[in-house]
Amino acid sequence: MTPGVLGARPVVARTREELRDALAATPRPRGFVPTMGALHAGHVSLLRRARDESASVVMSVFVNPTQFEDRADLDAYPRDLAADLAVARDAGADVAFVPSVETVYPAGASTTVDPGPIARVLEGAARPGHFAGVATVVAILLGIVAPDVSYFGEKDAQQLVIVRRIVRDLALPGSVAGCRTVREPDGLAMSSRNARLGPDDRSAAAVLHRALLAARDAHAAGTTDADALRAVMRDVVAAEPRAALDYVSAADPTTLEEARGPQAGPILLSLAAVLGGVRLIDAETVSLT
Ligand code: PAF
Repeated sequence: MTPGVLGARPVVARTREELRDALAATPRPRGFVPTMGALHAGHVSLLRRARDESASVVMSVFVNPTQFEDRADLDAYPRDLAADLAVARDAGADVAFVPSVETVYPAGASTTVDPGPIARVLEGAARPGHFAGVATVVAILLGIVAPDVSYFGEKDAQQLVIVRRIVRDLALPGSVAGCRTVREPDGLAMSSRNARLGPDDRSAAAVLHRALLAARDAHAAGTTDADALRAVMRDVVAAEPRAALDYVSAADPTTLEEARGPQAGPILLSLAAVLGGVRLIDAETVSLT
């Protein structure tokens, strides 16, 4: 375990044993923010909320190989632990769990978590196996950290739905808090992928948020038909030549089943598009109440 200089936070734990010792010295309730590093303002908002609501804050920095379909993407994933720890310290994290692949997946580990059909639609259709990787690592991390509350961003809406589902179905420890998406001034949702956009694609990328806003406005003005809401988003993205649309969705926020016809209840609006080879996603839930 590496205590920061003169006991400064966060304490860095690299093994399960080091984490156990660090956790023994921290009070409950324990907030947990799992990350893959490359921390940005979105992660900071999760850490700050955990800080506000918990007696101690644990974060993990682990680039999880099992959720990458493409080895090149995994290798190219940005890694800067010193910068991440500085961000974590400023946001008030007490403990940073920074495990190796072997610590998370010990030799012989063969159990995986399959969240079922909700993992195979939307992002899951485009990225086969991705959510089994996410669900497996989240189950392992929650088992090791045993948080009272874990914090996930609403931008990764399908991930949040899946995490809620596995926590419920597998009785994993703690509750799950969804946190509002943090956006750039032009509306682009914060994501570590944004750094990979060239300047023109970066400007064009705000189209995802514009599409959500247009659908949200249409919904507020009385358009509750799910097909019409999908069409609104599709039309906005079609007007941006740099964006190649993958999907638009207006779905049940719990089951992720595509909604058909007029909807009285909440609707999860989401979309994915590729700009300059970078796949971006965004989501918002609309509700009449
Ligand atoms: O959202 C992420 O950064 C990752 O999917 C998570 C939840 C840390 C699991 O690796």
